[in-house]
Amino acid sequence: MDDRILEQSLIEGEAREELSLRPLYLSQYIGQDTIKRNLQIFIDAAKMREEPLDHVILHGPPGLGKTTLSNIIAHEMNVNIRTTAGPAIERAGDLAAILSSLEPGDVLFIDEIHRLPRIVEEILYSAMEDYFIDVVIGQGDEARSIRIDLPPFTLVGATTRFGSLSAPLRDRFGIQLRLEYYSNDALQTIVERTADIFDVKIDETSAYELARRSRGTPRIANRLLRRVRDFSMVKGEASISLETTNDALRVLEVDEEGLDPIDHKVMTTIIDTYGGGPVGLETVAVSIGEEVVTLIDVYEPYLIQRGFLQRTPRGREATAKSYDYFKRHKHIEDNES
Ligand SMILES: Nc1ncnc2c1ncn2[C@@H]1O[C@H](COP(=O)(O)OP(=O)(O)OP(=O)(O)O)[C@@H](O)[C@H]1O
Ligand SMILES: [Mg+2]
Repeated sequence: MDDRILEQSLIEGEAREELSLRPLYLSQYIGQDTIKRNLQIFIDAAKMREEPLDHVILHGPPGLGKTTLSNIIAHEMNVNIRTTAGPAIERAGDLAAILSSLEPGDVLFIDEIHRLPRIVEEILYSAMEDYFIDVVIGQGDEARSIRIDLPPFTLVGATTRFGSLSAPLRDRFGIQLRLEYYSNDALQTIVERTADIFDVKIDETSAYELARRSRGTPRIANRLLRRVRDFSMVKGEASISLETTNDALRVLEVDEEGLDPIDHKVMTTIIDTYGGGPVGLETVAVSIGEEVVTLIDVYEPYLIQRGFLQRTPRGREATAKSYDYFKRHKHIEDNES
C-alpha cells in the first residue's frame, strides 16, 4: 500500500499544501507549550544581545513539527534559513561551501542530522564552537590545511534519533528540545485551523474524533482531515459530520486508538508468535516484512506511549492492556518458579 496514513515522505500533492499549513510564528504554533515558552525566552534574549541564537537540536518522532519549528526560529530571529539534510552532505567540502555562504546570524537547518557522515560531522565541531573550519586542500605532499573563518550562525539540527548522535555533537547544542506527542485538544485545534485553511467546515465532535485518532501527530491529523474531507464532499455535506468521519476512518483502516494494520500486525505477532515477548524488534520486523527502522521510528514510540508495548532489557513485551485490546488471553506460565 503506497498510500499509508503513516507514510513518512509526503504523498503527491501534499508538499505544496504542507507549505501553506506551516505556521510562520511561534504564536501560531499550537501545543508544545514548554518548548514554545523556553524558545521565546532564548530568542528574546539573543535579540537583546544582538547575537545569533545558540545552536538548537530538535528531536522527536516524525511529523511532530521539527521542520516547522526550524523555519519559525529563522522567522522570529529575522534571518535567512538554509535547509539541507544529513545524507545530502557527502563530503567535507560540501559543508564548507554551505557554511561559508552564510550571512551573519543565519540559520543553517540540517534535517536528519544523525545521518551526517563522520568526516563532515567532525568539521562541524569547530564551526559550531568557534565559527571556523579547517579544510585540507591539495593532495599528497602538496596538501595543506587552511583555516576559514565563518560568520556567527545558528545551527538547527533535527533528528528522530537523538540517541544516535555522538556525544561531541550532542553537547555542542546549547538548546536541546524534545518534541512530545500532541494532546487531543492541541490536535483538535490543529484540525480546526487546517479546516479553516482548506475552507471546509467541521463540527467540534468530528474534529475531536479525528484528533484522538491521529497518533498525537499533526501531520497525520492533517492527512486524515484531507481524506475525510473527500468523503464528506462526495456525500455533498455542508459540514463534515461525525458519521462520515467514522466511516472514512474505517475505510482508511484507522482503528479506535489510531492504530493501523501494521500496528496490529506488530502486536498480534508479538502476542501470538512470540508468547507476548520478550522478543527483539528485528525479529518482529522480519516476521511481518517491515523495515526495522520504520518500526523503531514510527510504530514503536506510539505503541509504547499508548501503553501497548513495553521495552525491557530482554526485548519488547506486550502489556496486559494489549492482551485486552487485541482480545487475546494471556497464557500463564506455571513452571517458572
Ligand atoms: N504545532 C503545530 N501547529 C500547527 N501545525 C503543525 C504544528 N506542528 C506541525 N504542524 C503541521 O504538521 C505538518 C508536519 O510538520 P513538520 O513537517 O514540521 O514535521 P517534522 O517533525 O519535521 O517531520 P519529519 O520528522 O517527518 O521531518 C506540517 O504540515 C505542519 O503544518
Ligand atoms: Mg521535517
